[in-house]
Formats: sequence, structure tokens, C-alpha cells
Amino acid sequence: MQQQAIIDKTASYVKAQLEGEGSGHDWWHIFRVWKNALYIASHEKGADTFIVELAALLHDIGDHKFHNGDETVGPRMVREWLEKLQLDEEIIAAVCAIVSGLSYKGACTSSAMPTLEGRIVQDADRLDAIGAIGIARTFAYGGHKGRELYNPAIKPVLHDNFDTYKSSTAPTINHFYEKLLLLKDRMHTLTARQMAEKRHRYMEGFLAQFYAEWNATDYPEQT
Ligand code: NI
Repeated sequence: MQQQAIIDKTASYVKAQLEGEGSGHDWWHIFRVWKNALYIASHEKGADTFIVELAALLHDIGDHKFHNGDETVGPRMVREWLEKLQLDEEIIAAVCAIVSGLSYKGACTSSAMPTLEGRIVQDADRLDAIGAIGIARTFAYGGHKGRELYNPAIKPVLHDNFDTYKSSTAPTINHFYEKLLLLKDRMHTLTARQMAEKRHRYMEGFLAQFYAEWNATDYPEQT
């Protein structure tokens, strides 16, 4: 099968799996990550775009967040799909390694990605977690999990292991401090780092306005 046909088939498979999903991990998230990854790859020399596209498309299939924290489901489903398409073992292994290394595990955990393709897909996924879309997705996910928007009494925690990060039930605003605001400095590629700057500033502006409204400091001056 031609590479383009494999990409198209994989996109249809992922779309059918994730369409209409309501927690911010829907098909359109995948679509944006796919496009962001291709954009970054076009600016970073030497990446195998076939692997970048496959990994971007498949990166949230079987996400641990939807399988009771089981991190092995994703790579297993990805492998099954790619074997069905009869791809070379070398490509299958490369894509599976990216998918299993991708997710964010807490503020004080490391996120090493050994391949350029993996670094590009991880950057693309993280770009979709920040900025205006990141804000929208974060509150959608918080709602999906039944979390409070904000609770001034509950302070953010910088998690140093994946289990405590995964089991957190903190208000959604805390997630900005535990993950979103940290992502800008965790981008691997220069292209993504530059894109992250603007999205990061937008989130800072959002938070400033959020607290101004929450604390009623944005009332017009009374005369
Ligand atoms: Ni994702």
C-alpha cells in the first residue's frame, strides 16, 4: 500500500474511534496535532514525516485516561492497527515507541523523547494543550471529570510521580500551574517553542482576567 493510502486509512480509523468524544480528546484534537506536527516537521530538518503522521494520528488511541490509567492499552492498539496494514516492523516499533512515551506525567517528571519524530509529535500535542484551545480543552476535561472550576483553598501541587498526577481531583485552574504553564519550557523544537510563546501569554492573560472577575477587582470605578 502507498504511504498516502496508509495515512488516509489511519485517519479514517482514528476519526471513527474518536468522533464526538466530549472530553477534549476528540477527532479534532487529533486533526490539529497532525497538522501542527506536519508544520513543525517541515521546519525541522531530517524528520521522517511518514512516522510523524502515523504517530500524530494514533497518539491518543487507547489513552490511559480512558482505560483506568492503563498505559499499555494505547501502544497495543496501535500495534494491532499497523500490523493489520502490514507495515514493516521498524516503522511499527518507531510509532509505538512514540505513542507510549508521549503523555505528560507530572510537573517534576522528565519527558525524554529519543527520536526527532517523537519530539515533534510531543511538541504538537503540547501546543494543543495550551493557548485558547488548551483553555477550552482543560475546562471540558475538568467538566467531564466533575471537577470544580476553581477553589482558592486548594493549592496547586507539582507532582513528582505519574500516579499522584493521574489520580489528582484538584480544581481545573490548578491544572494551569501543574501542567499548562510549564509546557512552553518543555518544547523540544525551536519551531514549537516559538509557537508556544504566544499561546503561553494568552493563558497568562486569561488567568489574570479570571482572578480579576473572581475577586471583583474588575468593577468600574464608582463615582
Ligand atoms: Ni493528545
